Formats: sequence, structure tokens, C-alpha cells
Amino acid sequence: MEFPSPSPAPDPPAAVPAWLAERLAAAGGSVPFATYMAWALHDPEHGAYGSGRLQVGPGGDFATSPSLGPDFAALLAPQIAQWLGELAADGPLALIEAGPGEGSLARDLAEQLAAGWPELAARTELVLVEPNAGMAARQRQCLADCPLPCRWSSFEALAAAPLRGVVLAHEVLDALAVERITWDGALWRRQRVALHQGALRLEPGEPLEPQASPQLEALGLLGPGPQRPVGWSTELHPELEPWLAACGAALACGPLLVIDYALEAWRYYAPSRADGTLMAYRGQRASGDPLREPGHWDLTAHLCIESLQAAAHASGWEPIGQCRQGEALLSLGLAQRLHGLQQVQAAGAAAAGPAVLQELSLGTLLARREALLRLVDPAALGDFRWLAFRRGPASALADPALPLFLREPPLA
Ligand SMILES: C[S@@+](CC[C@H](N)C(=O)[O-])C[C@H]1O[C@@H](n2cnc3c(N)ncnc32)[C@H](O)[C@@H]1O
Repeated sequence: MEFPSPSPAPDPPAAVPAWLAERLAAAGGSVPFATYMAWALHDPEHGAYGSGRLQVGPGGDFATSPSLGPDFAALLAPQIAQWLGELAADGPLALIEAGPGEGSLARDLAEQLAAGWPELAARTELVLVEPNAGMAARQRQCLADCPLPCRWSSFEALAAAPLRGVVLAHEVLDALAVERITWDGALWRRQRVALHQGALRLEPGEPLEPQASPQLEALGLLGPGPQRPVGWSTELHPELEPWLAACGAALACGPLLVIDYALEAWRYYAPSRADGTLMAYRGQRASGDPLREPGHWDLTAHLCIESLQAAAHASGWEPIGQCRQGEALLSLGLAQRLHGLQQVQAAGAAAAGPAVLQELSLGTLLARREALLRLVDPAALGDFRWLAFRRGPASALADPALPLFLREPPLA
């Protein structure tokens, strides 16, 4: 998602909804932050995603790359087609999208595949993995006319008959609940969300177990190095490994492309980043207060690249490569696409340019040009990371071609 600056005005005190107050009371007054985050996002009745309340897109709560228009999918489609084509010369294939949001990326990719790679499309089914019923309901509407057969499933159900295909995880891992930890001057403690005098607050909880030490050390949070002041807080990502393991069990063979905002550990856990990366989004506004109006705001934390890589390794994924979104999209032909739009615009009519660019009004052309520039803006979406992994028998994976998104950009 794009990151609007947090409002300079202090957030109003968080009102505690009755459902949350009751649960906190039943839990003895407080719960680990990860439990709170999972409730606030994924509770089927009260959660921001679980209820289907959050809307993705420029007119909704926050914009993501695919929500800016069909060009993102058009640029990504050759990469998906390359991978699907490498996986099998014949037989069924799957394009699995986890966390499809409004469903527009899945729909646009299906349309691109059907139009540009009909032989592959004829063998490919679309599989949507969406645990939140409220979101899945809107995805079904969006995909009503999808040119590929599509179904909704879970990684657990798919594991009964693992698929051969490509998994796409666009801005989904940042919706997994994170653990918040805080330094008390001597120990790392879990942060808890507590009900205190009718309001929510974060408070230090139990110390992290000794088993966490190797992970903390790998992230630069233990041992010699810059000291952090008392109260310095950040996030850990305990749900990554189970998610990647479940995803891996659903896939017999093929790549996984993770696209998300991610930082190297030295940047994520830099002493100067004293309060982690957690942010809340609603109605195109950003807030640094994760306790504000629980169940009405998206809560999201960046990924830590080393934590993701370690979790992927532990769950049997082999890294293929990674780069920033700006570089990936330029390799996939964004500059040529931009140039093509400008040609059509300059001609002042839809008659010129490639067929895909025909029948566009001037307003649409300008909006698409703007969207393309936002996708590669290094201060925003262009700084997202594309991280690819793969799994499967060595015979199926021998010498795959370099992914298109990691190649040198073609000359404009
Ligand atoms: C930030 S939205 C991203 C939507 C879309 N991929 C996009 O970029 O426009 C996160 C999506 O992931 C879904 N989600 C949350 N947790 C998930 C999980 N554990 N597995 C799969 N999807 C999940 C949410 O319901 C929502 O559809």
C-alpha cells in the first residue's frame, strides 16, 4: 500500500468496543499484541478484514499496486506465464493468489493470460486463498466473469492434493499478526494490550523465552552492538514460518512470489527506529496508533527480509532472487508501456499504438500514466520488494530460466 504521512494531530483516545472489552476481561485484563492484532483484523464478526469492512483501492481505505488499475497485472502477466510454461508442457496448472483483497489482481491476470497465452490459460485454474469471508464475498463478485475456472480454498485443504503452479502473495504477509517486543533495560519482553481505566494501552509483559535468543541475535538485537534505550520497541514475525509451511504443503512444485514492503534487518532493527514499523490505515489516512478504533483500521507491519528468508528456508523454499518493485517493473517493460501510452496520447486518437492501448480516452490515459509512475516511485510503491522462492523435485526445477523480473530492462 502507499503510505500517506501520519496525521500530525494526536490520535483521539481509543474507544474500546464492548466485544473487545469483554474478551480482554475474560483473558484476565490483557492479551499478547499478536492476539489483539489477529482479533482486530481477522475476527469474522468484528475484524477489519474478517467482517469485509476494509476496502482496498484509491476510493477505499488504502491503495495497493494492483488497485491502481490493470497495468500492474499486464506487466506481471509475462512473468506468471514464463513460470507456468516452465512448470509443465502439459497437464493442469494453477495460479494461486493468497490474500486477493478485492480480487482485481486475480481477475486482471486471468484476463491477461487468456488473451496472451491461451494455451496456458486453457490448462490453468485460478485458486483464491482468502480466510476472511467478508473479503471472499467481494472477490466472488469481482471474479464473476473470470475467463479461467476459479475456486476458493485454503492451503490446508489444497495440501490433500498439492498443485503444480505459481503462488502470488501480494501484500498479504504484512497482514499476519506480529509480536511486539520491548526492551526494559535488561530483558526483551512481549508487549501486551491491556484494558486500563476504560482505555486500551500497551504494556510490557512476560520476558521472551531463552529459545528466542538465536533469532534475536541473528536480527542484531542481542550481544554487542548499539544499545537501545529502555522502552525501545519493535516487531517479530512468528506467523511467517507456519504460513510459508502451509503454503508449501499446498504446492507440489513451483514458485512463490512475495510482494510487500520489506526491510533488511539492519534497517528494520536500527536503534533509530524506536517504535517498529506498525501502522494503521483507514479512509486513506495513516495512524501510528494500532489501538485506535479496533476492527476499523488496517494494521500492518513491514516484513524483515532476513526473517522471511529464514522462515522460507525452514519451510523448504529455495530462494530464486529479489529486487525492488521499481526494478522489477522496469525489467517487465514498464518504460515501454509508459512510452506507448504517451504515443497514443500524442496521436490524440486511439487509432495509433498497440491494440491493448486502443479505445482509451484522454482521462484514462492520464490516469494510467500517473498510476505507472506511482508503481515505480522509489519513495512509495517502487520501494516494495519482490522476493521469489520455489519448491519441488529437483527434476522439475533443473535450470529454470532467470525470472523475467530479474533481467536487465529492455531498451526503451
Ligand atoms: C492488504 S490486503 C491485500 C489485498 C491485495 N492482495 C492487494 O494487494 O490489493 C490483505 C489481504 O490478505 C487477506 N489475508 C489476511 N490474512 C491472510 C492469510 N493468513 N492468508 C491469506 N489471506 C489473508 C485479507 O483478508 C486481504 O484480502
